[in-house]
Amino acid sequence: MERCFTMLKPGVLNRRIAGEIISRLERKGLQLIGMKMLRIDRELAAEHYADHAGKHFYEPLVSYITSGPVVAMAWQGDNCVSIVRRLTGATDPLEAAPGTIRGDYCAHTQHNVMHASDSPENAEREVALFFAEDELFDWKDESAHWY
Ligand code: PPS
Repeated sequence: MERCFTMLKPGVLNRRIAGEIISRLERKGLQLIGMKMLRIDRELAAEHYADHAGKHFYEPLVSYITSGPVVAMAWQGDNCVSIVRRLTGATDPLEAAPGTIRGDYCAHTQHNVMHASDSPENAEREVALFFAEDELFDWKDESAHWY
């Protein structure tokens, strides 16, 4: 089964919408196999966003992601990355369809509520960056395949 890393960005906890967003992924039938709250330091942010170093939005992105607590999550399911990306919506909330997380909960790209891995390869890298193997719980639930 495929894994995907997601992260609720700073401000989501303040808005008390973390549960609603997590519910959307659960209701779709994905398995939550890891979850933790943490404050990201610049070193971890630099590693996580290494592909974007040098881009015009890199500094604001790193400043923002290190500005408050985040909720890091690892999910599992068939086609997990594609499913999570579709539920998340486009990077720019102006283009994110209503009904998607970004389409429903934000108006600015810089504060687009949730990060989601963009490929299975990056998902594996990001899950390993944020979770030790013993922090992941590969629980079995055959009903996940019914969705
Ligand atoms: S790219 O250039 O297409 O690879 O970039 P993209 O995948 O769209 O975005 C990479 C991450 O940068 C965030 N981003 C921004 N943050 C702040 N300001 C601006 N203008 C901006 N543009 C993109 C975007 O949300 C992505 O972060 P994550 O955490 O993956 O959502």
